[in-house]
Amino acid sequence: MSESKSTNITWHEGHVTRKEREKILGQRGVTVWLTGLSGSGKSTVATAAEQVVLGKGKLAYVLDGDNVRHGLNKNLGFSPEDRTENIRRIGEVAKLFNDSGVVVFTAFISPYREDRDAVRALMAEGDFVEVWADADVATCEERDPKGLYKKARAGEIPEFTGISAPYEAPERPELVLDTGVQSLQESVEQLVGYLEEKGYLSQ
Ligand code: ADX
Repeated sequence: MSESKSTNITWHEGHVTRKEREKILGQRGVTVWLTGLSGSGKSTVATAAEQVVLGKGKLAYVLDGDNVRHGLNKNLGFSPEDRTENIRRIGEVAKLFNDSGVVVFTAFISPYREDRDAVRALMAEGDFVEVWADADVATCEERDPKGLYKKARAGEIPEFTGISAPYEAPERPELVLDTGVQSLQESVEQLVGYLEEKGYLSQ
């Protein structure tokens, strides 16, 4: 799926550089890759962090698993192959966002280490910040915001991450958010604080 089928294609450079776009925005393009179980708080943290970043006059955007699967990736399911393709496409989209100078928060389970590492490898050093929303299965199952764990336990959803499909935790993430324990506000402060400290929100 990932090898190129196109031939006779040429890369066109634009007249404007990423640096120029970043200068206008007063920030650095970056992919903030949230990974974790369904219900671990990825989307909630991402959308709240987006709002905080915008409040600081910086441009951010959220790519969310459930949303992207309504459109761009509507032809993909939850088999290992489809999840890999899901993450590959999002990685490419996120890379475009990096080039646009925008801070992009992605909220996908992205359960396979190899898939996340492939996205990291796609990007320049510093353009990929892996953030683990570290809430365990028991906590996510207790929350069960979409009632999916209940369905998965009843055998109504096959290959459900954490129940009947694996989740491979990051080994060296840039950041771990203890989303099973700490408040949303604490997680967002930790995340946005990291971006500020590393200079992503300034030029
Ligand atoms: S990923 O594994 O390919 O990264 P993604 O983040 O896009 O997954 O989508 C996960 C969301 O799809 C979950 O939050 C949940 O709402 C829904 N979902 C539906 N079926 C499954 C399943 N079998 N496993 C995990 N999530 C599922």
